Amino acid sequence: MKHVISIDDFDPEFIAWIVRRATEIKRLRLRQEEPYRFFRDLHYRFRGRLMITDFFEPSTRTRFSFEAAMAYLGGMVIGSENAAEFSSFKKGESLEDNFRVISGYGDIIVGRFLHEGDARRAADVSEIPLINGGDGMGEHPTQALIDYFSIFEHFPKLQTPLKVVFFGDNLRSRTVHSLAMLLSTSPSVGEIIFLSPPRLKPDEVFLKTIEKRADHGNVQVWSADEQDSDLQLLREYVGKNVLLGADVVYVTRSQDERGGKEAGLVFAREYLNFLSPESIILHPLPRNSELPTTIDNDPRACYFEQSKNGLYVRMALLENLLTGTDR
Ligand code: NCD
Repeated sequence: MKHVISIDDFDPEFIAWIVRRATEIKRLRLRQEEPYRFFRDLHYRFRGRLMITDFFEPSTRTRFSFEAAMAYLGGMVIGSENAAEFSSFKKGESLEDNFRVISGYGDIIVGRFLHEGDARRAADVSEIPLINGGDGMGEHPTQALIDYFSIFEHFPKLQTPLKVVFFGDNLRSRTVHSLAMLLSTSPSVGEIIFLSPPRLKPDEVFLKTIEKRADHGNVQVWSADEQDSDLQLLREYVGKNVLLGADVVYVTRSQDERGGKEAGLVFAREYLNFLSPESIILHPLPRNSELPTTIDNDPRACYFEQSKNGLYVRMALLENLLTGTDR
């Protein structure tokens, strides 16, 4: 049985298949004349299959897109959007008992968890495949697949390896953890930079892990702090030293629910001047003030397209996990 807990649960062939399949699904859905014929054909294969969503933390994109994906595939969905409040967890039931029991009711589970490591604990007792939809500060492997897909749909034919900047809360963002792990072993990536306010720098152990993984593919990894309290100097430093030549800027909010409020970085509109016309700005969303809405109309702002891609990538993933299709 295949669980999806960490980005390391995917091998390169699997990821290549997901990208191909999600591209195909996206194209077919956007083709106006016959988008529904495609979904009708898929429907038969998923009829009678049930996905359970069990979420212990708030979610918009992950839960809705997984549920939409399963619905489009013709399967059924049941779930709890607030299992911490409305399941027997509230009565003191253990995480293990919760997942052992619900795994008896369906064919696949998507869980979201309060703490790092909880997804693994739940998978250990689950009788059916379990997908980690985010575990505390740990990982968010399916978001990384969506981010990866969103990056490479923009750079289908690479001349030079990509420079990727992680801009924001690089300590507590699980989406950063999973995507950096994935990109660190990609031959298409040449440089990974973590730009964070001093208190939101990547954890040392995590940084070492990324450096070690990147070593095999000769990816350069470095961590830049926001150095200066003078806003003008800071912006110049960030613009000239970090953003110039970046192909992908991956912005994240400060994860204040994970251990206190920290002042985050703001992706100022003037930073756009340091980016080339081909570069892209991604954000897993939700955003707060770190990504001003004045950037939304810039052609490089790809975060809403990225969130739409969640549907196609998760359809491909469910298809793979539920039917074993992978070639
Ligand atoms: C992220 C998450 O839940 O980790 N959102 C998502 O799934 N797209 C990002 C966040 O909460 O900041």
